[in-house]
Amino acid sequence: MPIVQAQGRAIACETGANLRHVLLQQGIELHNQHSTIINCRGLGTCGTCAVEIEGEVSPQNWREQTRLALPPHSAAQSRRLACQTQVLGNVRVTKYNGFWGQGSQPVWTAEKSGDS
Ligand code: FES
Repeated sequence: MPIVQAQGRAIACETGANLRHVLLQQGIELHNQHSTIINCRGLGTCGTCAVEIEGEVSPQNWREQTRLALPPHSAAQSRRLACQTQVLGNVRVTKYNGFWGQGSQPVWTAEKSGDS
């Protein structure tokens, strides 16, 4: 059973689980600021669930590639859309600042909740 490390927590999930669902079900703050309310609910269109992922996950689909190629995201960044990502093995997740999570400052990491 894969382990997702995010916001200082370790969460077990099924292989193939949707990363956005795993994080939100556990109360992880996936969306920054008002994107908690204003987001596409996992359709892959808003881009606000962007995170950095280390570990084994599904490859990008066309929807994710398209959204991440549009500003404020950039193909040069190694972000993934949690809502379009299936967890295939142990993963470590980092959330960055900015409404879309497009920034360069971590809000939280795999080990740190970001509260301190
Ligand atoms: S929740 Fe909108 S792109 Fe993931």
